[in-house]
Amino acid sequence: MSTDTTVSTLSVRKLHPALGAAVRGVDMRRPMSLEQFRELHDIWMEHLVLVFPEQHISDEEHVQFTRYFGEPEIFHQKIIKSQRVPEIFRVSNVDDNGNLMPPEHPTAQQLSLAQYWHTDSSYRAIPCTGALLHGVEVSRTGGETQFTNLYKVYDALPEVLKRRIAGRKARHNFGNLHNLRDLKPLTEEEKAAMPAVWQPMVRTHPVTGRKSLYISPIYHDEVEGLTESEGKQLIAELTAFAEQPQFVYRHRWETDDVLMWDNRCTMHQVTPFDPRERRVMHRTTIVSTEPVLAG
Ligand code: SIN
Repeated sequence: MSTDTTVSTLSVRKLHPALGAAVRGVDMRRPMSLEQFRELHDIWMEHLVLVFPEQHISDEEHVQFTRYFGEPEIFHQKIIKSQRVPEIFRVSNVDDNGNLMPPEHPTAQQLSLAQYWHTDSSYRAIPCTGALLHGVEVSRTGGETQFTNLYKVYDALPEVLKRRIAGRKARHNFGNLHNLRDLKPLTEEEKAAMPAVWQPMVRTHPVTGRKSLYISPIYHDEVEGLTESEGKQLIAELTAFAEQPQFVYRHRWETDDVLMWDNRCTMHQVTPFDPRERRVMHRTTIVSTEPVLAG
């Protein structure tokens, strides 16, 4: 007779054939058992992007829940980081005092770059594993977040593109944001904190062992062995391939949704929205302990 009495309390609903699942049965304000954590981690590895609806959490509870998956990253710039809870990265056009920022405000300008495809903190020598984003005030004029499955993208890449990226590295440079928008110049301290890094364009996921494309278009300023324009062209071709609808889940936010995604095998971007509308999203980012594994 079986002695296994563990019954799952989680329900999972797939959101798109490529990636994404809504998970019910998690209350982020309460502790998780080891069994529940393991089950949730498996679900995350399978679906890559999880949506947890109706999570009425404080920033402290958000940070606490993140700690099940790793240490929360502290952003290296003062702007964007919450003044109250430093582990919270404020993806918000409303400042810490609750005032809507004009679109030309340097912070709003920098955050609007999330409208380009990227994976979070790919400019770090050891990029993060994943991130959790809480919809505090959500947009109705756009501001949807879309994710692409880079495992499936890699598998489906034409052979000619696969050959061009095999064994090749691309440079990830936080400073590249300044080539895309007229931002407030980085301080010497900020520059020193984030020197550009080279990463393989194909990586192997440390948990699933699967290969994926690894690009973060917003940060690339060079591709190994190519001229600047050839490098840009290659990244543009790969991006155009990766954003095809069969690979992409697009999330329309409800207040208090929390999304958790795996930055090791997905990239994301936010769709444009009316900057006169408040959009307040709080993110934690999970520090990784292992360098990117070349594919
Ligand atoms: C992000 O790029 O981390 C945030 C995406 C969003 O604002 O929806």
